[in-house]
Amino acid sequence: MTPLFPDEPRGISVSTAIPGPRSEALRLRHAAVQDARTVHFYQHARKSRGNYIVDVDGNTILDLYGHIACVPLGYNHPDLLDAWRGGRFDWAAGYRPALGIAPPAEWVGIVEGALSRVAPRGLPNLMTVTTGSEAVENAIKTAFVRLARRRRNGAAPSPEDLALTMLNRQPHTNDMKVISFEGAFHGRSLGSLSATRSKAIHKLDFPAFEWPVVAFPANRFPLDENAAYNREAEARSLDQVTALLDADPQIAAVIIEPIQGEGGDRHASAAFFQGLRRITSEREVTLIVDEVQTGAGGTGTFWAHEAWDLPEPPDIVTFSKKMQLGGYYFRPELFPAEPWRIFNTFLGDPLRGAQLEVIIEVIERDDLLGNVVRTGKTLVRELTSLVGRYPGLLSSARGVGTYAAIDVRDPATRDRMVKALQQLGVESGGSGDRSIRFRPALVFEDRHVHEAIDRFDAVAKVLA
Ligand SMILES: Cc1ncc(COP(=O)(O)O)c(C=O)c1O
Repeated sequence: MTPLFPDEPRGISVSTAIPGPRSEALRLRHAAVQDARTVHFYQHARKSRGNYIVDVDGNTILDLYGHIACVPLGYNHPDLLDAWRGGRFDWAAGYRPALGIAPPAEWVGIVEGALSRVAPRGLPNLMTVTTGSEAVENAIKTAFVRLARRRRNGAAPSPEDLALTMLNRQPHTNDMKVISFEGAFHGRSLGSLSATRSKAIHKLDFPAFEWPVVAFPANRFPLDENAAYNREAEARSLDQVTALLDADPQIAAVIIEPIQGEGGDRHASAAFFQGLRRITSEREVTLIVDEVQTGAGGTGTFWAHEAWDLPEPPDIVTFSKKMQLGGYYFRPELFPAEPWRIFNTFLGDPLRGAQLEVIIEVIERDDLLGNVVRTGKTLVRELTSLVGRYPGLLSSARGVGTYAAIDVRDPATRDRMVKALQQLGVESGGSGDRSIRFRPALVFEDRHVHEAIDRFDAVAKVLA
């Protein structure tokens, strides 16, 4: 079969420790100015290709992590490079505009073209920003505006409302709330952080809103052996949401990830999400589905929530990462009545939008969603068999498309496993306390699965 990515390296090749001496030298220079402690290694941007990172020490590393789920087509896809060299992005290269003030005409083409082409069903409007946190932050603000407008019966705010606003003392507004779920990650900006529940270190020392938190039902795997347990956990979680919404009219929104990404690849069933949609829509509470990590194809549908067959669409769907810019899609009735309510200087990045146009063309032309579904089946099958070979070490192989994970015995062993894989030329990442997550590019194919599993097997033999 013709590979989806032409001229990829033949496979992993490692000749130094990872990070190697050149990476460590760069880290020293880098760290003199910026915190470089989180850096895995330094990448050779031009030499990396497809699913393989080439690092500055010349190692060729198979990438399962994709810069935390941000790389749709692999590194240096020829269509993106040809578009660049052919001048397709020239209009966006000379300056960065304030898109809410004097956008280039081409931006309108991107908004009505690529961005609308992939809009989730029922959500024709969209807002663009730069990052995932900003997307969430503004989605939450949109839900607050909706609730406030309903409270005022659509009337304009009074002079007194405006005066109190300037004192940070808005009646009925300061105690509006958003429900989020245990283990959730929705970003690190000050507002979004109040909905983030995955790790204390993200939140420590920052003032937070006292918003309610509900247990995420977190399916146990294998699903068929744990069906009754999972059903009950999901029912309990939905009961908690219902009780909170019925007790507190100040709850403006419920925000949830289709699969908890940072929180440990925790899954819930389509029936759970259908129930959540029903409960929120009956009470006119905004349902925000945060697809920053799941969006743009990694689960085998463009949006993960497409797989749930919801009785009606979510109110808002946030995106970033593989979409290259941040933003959110929303229902027309959530359009703020006044301009300037949701605004910032850049409002996204036209260059990233122009790249996204090419990315979407390639996803469609090469049927990359079909590839993700096919490769995902191989990946989860191979992970399941790996778990079978090392039952004391590994458990809970799971995944939708190639958005997959396994659990390791304990957090320390998980960290050792990630490090050992890195030495064998496999870049992976942790999620939650003891999971290893897969967030490969959409051009990840069966041969890459087998190459990765071979290295997992070698590491598991030592750690088991
Ligand atoms: C589900 C989800 N929401 C929001 C964010 C925040 O995005 P960013 O880091 O771009 O601000 C992330 C980042 O990992 C995420 O996974």
